[in-house]
Amino acid sequence: MSQPLNIGNLNLDGSSAGGGQPSLAYSTSPIDQFSPPKHHYPLNNGDAPAAGSFSARMMTSPKQTNGFPASSPSSAGGLPSATSPRDRARSLSTTVQAPKVLTPFVPRSIEEQEEKVHPKVLLLENVNESAINMLREQGYVVETEKSALGEQELIDRLVKGGYSALGIRSKTKVTAKVIESVKNLVVIGCFCIGTNQVDLLAAGRAGIAVFNSPFSNSRSVAELVISEIVALSRQMVDRANEMRQGIWNKVSKGCWEIRGKTLGIVGYGHIGAQLSVLAEAMGMQVRYFDVIPIMPLGQAQQVGTLDDLLAISDFLTLHVPEIPETMNLIGAEEMRKMKKGSYLINNARGKVVDLAALATSLKSGHLAGAAIDVFPREPAANGKYFNEDLNPFFPALSTCPNLILTPHIGGSTEEAQRMIGAEVGAALIRYINFGSTLGAVNFPEVSLKPIIGDDIVRLCFAHLNRPGVLKAVNAILGAYNVERQLTDSKGEVAYLMADIAEVSPEGVRKIYDGVSSLEASVATRVLY
Ligand SMILES: NC(=O)c1ccc[n+]([C@@H]2O[C@H](COP(=O)([O-])OP(=O)(O)OC[C@H]3O[C@@H](n4cnc5c(N)ncnc54)[C@H](O)[C@@H]3O)[C@@H](O)[C@H]2O)c1
Repeated sequence: MSQPLNIGNLNLDGSSAGGGQPSLAYSTSPIDQFSPPKHHYPLNNGDAPAAGSFSARMMTSPKQTNGFPASSPSSAGGLPSATSPRDRARSLSTTVQAPKVLTPFVPRSIEEQEEKVHPKVLLLENVNESAINMLREQGYVVETEKSALGEQELIDRLVKGGYSALGIRSKTKVTAKVIESVKNLVVIGCFCIGTNQVDLLAAGRAGIAVFNSPFSNSRSVAELVISEIVALSRQMVDRANEMRQGIWNKVSKGCWEIRGKTLGIVGYGHIGAQLSVLAEAMGMQVRYFDVIPIMPLGQAQQVGTLDDLLAISDFLTLHVPEIPETMNLIGAEEMRKMKKGSYLINNARGKVVDLAALATSLKSGHLAGAAIDVFPREPAANGKYFNEDLNPFFPALSTCPNLILTPHIGGSTEEAQRMIGAEVGAALIRYINFGSTLGAVNFPEVSLKPIIGDDIVRLCFAHLNRPGVLKAVNAILGAYNVERQLTDSKGEVAYLMADIAEVSPEGVRKIYDGVSSLEASVATRVLY
């Protein structure tokens, strides 16, 4: 039942590539048994385990590769790169033993294990098909909802359903109350960019890892900005609105080509850099300001201060994060410093621009136009909610000339949604099946290479970041052959992964009980 896991343009299937060699491929394990992490592994009662039982699994040889390339040399800093020259060379020239398929959870009880309980995943808010398919291919039981759920509805659903993984987009709020109320949840996937809809601290303290997809829609935003630059310089939205009212207004005054104009980019990160390349292809001169020195792409040039950029830009576009330093980054004073007749574009975050000051500047004619995709307060649902109650500056803005207002659609494309689905889906699978926290926002990033050999089990231990915990863990593991071990911490939460060889089922029981009963323990899983 092993299915290919396609991540980006990697075709990751577990099939053999000529001569019986594993291909440059991921394949992920089927999951035929499951239970959430805070429960106990099955009681083991003898030397002759029933077929398919925990004990039997401990002793049988898996037939499929797991979610990492078999040839990966990495034991720590990241997902093994299936495309690195070293990996490619190895996969072509050596016979590689397939990694062990891991059963991702310690079953709650022997009965549950025998019932073959599958991991349950709840995906809300119309999460993209790409993720649904990917998770189902793992054998997970995936339930979906088109809309978000309110706090109590979410609690009731999660508690009743016994889900181990929750997938949301930006509208579902996972509050501390939700987290405290659900005991089975292991992981949350935010199928979007931001994660402020989740109480990350509460999730971390509960041992729930949270993943997101911060950069899958960079290209979509960059393309929208290009379209806005053209639309603003041609006053296209005002003309289009007039036409709907039967007004024929063929003007060229104040309308410009963008060729040869200067685009000022504030924040030369993922989006800013993509935009830089597209804008140059349109014949624009690109200048940018960033708080860190960043290598320019093409002919772009970094300037020393924001004021320098304000003074030279025909179009100023913002691509900075929302952090205390960027609140009202562009206010009345900065707008005054912008060239007369220039344009302002904000697709970053709503609080970066003072929108009341923008209305004043547009009405005075100092700025010739603006495109705003993000707002200090945005409605939680689609409908007639964008009004004065939400944003007091709305009446002033709604009567400004050459102003394009869009409802935070910068990253909203089919392509971006697919990429987000695939990226977050893959992160959930990596965490559930293999314990890897690469890309987690509230856990330290820890990953171990695939397990080769049947008698190795993997301990995944989230704990409070306190002195003495590692000493206590190692006192428990000291009696065993620890093949590899890695730990890291992030704020209050620390995460340890250890691969332990030659452990009997009784030994696993001892390790699990010992580690999970430590005072600092937050969540313990044994993948076997
Ligand atoms: N409109 C949308 O739908 C949409 C979609 C995706 C992202 N975004 C937003 O776009 C923004 C940029 O995203 P990204 O992926 O390019 O982020 P990024 O982290 O890749 O880049 C941000 C850049 O801003 C720089 N920066 C930080 N503070 C700065 C300051 N005070 N002055 C100048 N530069 C500063 C950083 O050094 C970094 O290079 C974010 O706010 C993100 O939330 C919006």
